[in-house]
Amino acid sequence: MTGKVASRMDEGGYVLITGASSGIGAELAALYAARGRGLVLWGRDAVRLENVAGHARSRGVKVHTRVLDLMDGAAAIAALREDDGSYPLDLAILAAGLGDMRRGNDVVERAEDVLRLGLVNYATPSAMAAAAAECMVKRGRGHIVLIGSVAAFHALPFAAAYSGSKAGIKRFAEAQQMALAPLGIGVTLVSPGFVDTPMSRRVVGAKPFMQSASAAARRIADAVDRNRPHLVFPFIFSVLRLIDTLVPWPFKRRILSAIKADQMN
Ligand SMILES: NC(=O)c1ccc[n+]([C@@H]2O[C@H](COP(=O)([O-])OP(=O)(O)OC[C@H]3O[C@@H](n4cnc5c(N)ncnc54)[C@H](OP(=O)(O)O)[C@@H]3O)[C@@H](O)[C@H]2O)c1
Repeated sequence: MTGKVASRMDEGGYVLITGASSGIGAELAALYAARGRGLVLWGRDAVRLENVAGHARSRGVKVHTRVLDLMDGAAAIAALREDDGSYPLDLAILAAGLGDMRRGNDVVERAEDVLRLGLVNYATPSAMAAAAAECMVKRGRGHIVLIGSVAAFHALPFAAAYSGSKAGIKRFAEAQQMALAPLGIGVTLVSPGFVDTPMSRRVVGAKPFMQSASAAARRIADAVDRNRPHLVFPFIFSVLRLIDTLVPWPFKRRILSAIKADQMN
């Protein structure tokens, strides 16, 4: 379902942003503060989070912050319900995420990293999206944004946990979008290519078609305004996604296996 304000966003409600202490989440906080929206900002690094909150407060908006590690999914669910009780959420943008991949001479990704990515990129944001939906359905309005990645479109041998966790959140968002649309709640899946943030700066090598974090935030807010079910940017990655579905598996396997990628610690 696409169409302006189809999810009946109430401009008086609060905007929750996870991952607000850095990158895309911090830019989204600045953007919604400039629009005069009250903010509920979550992050792990208290100092950087307060810095983002301070800038938003200087625009005259109310800001509530919460420092929480999303490795603890049960705590995140309880915290979302508590925050919604005090600051009713009209928009929940679940932007926090990890971009780790196989490092240096590792044969495969480290087991601990695979677990972290599964929890932070998939399990906790899915559970939070469900908790946000419960709260929003009671009010008959709201919008949820889940941030995936174009990595979800391809099986990446150097980043199995990242591409796998992002494929999981993509499928969850698509299903939740269909389930909630009849109830007046919008869901937008965002699949960015490279965005210039601390996450992408750790990746060694070429980062084609990289966008700024502020441009990414503007695109995301525009997709929410239009109640778009799926935003992919830049457009070239929609083409690559289509090619991925058309190329026969043995050929695709050779191409994907040839890609070299590494990250700084
Ligand atoms: N940058 C890209 O090229 C790119 C491309 C595709 C998709 N994405 C996605 O976009 C989203 C935002 O990433 P970004 O580029 O803005 O990266 P970033 O600048 O590294 O920010 C990541 C954010 O996630 C938070 N976070 C990470 N682990 C957490 C945890 N265990 N508990 C709570 N918060 C945690 C960080 O909090 P602290 O800093 O406070 O620790 C930070 O606020 C992610 O979901 C990412 O996968 C990014």
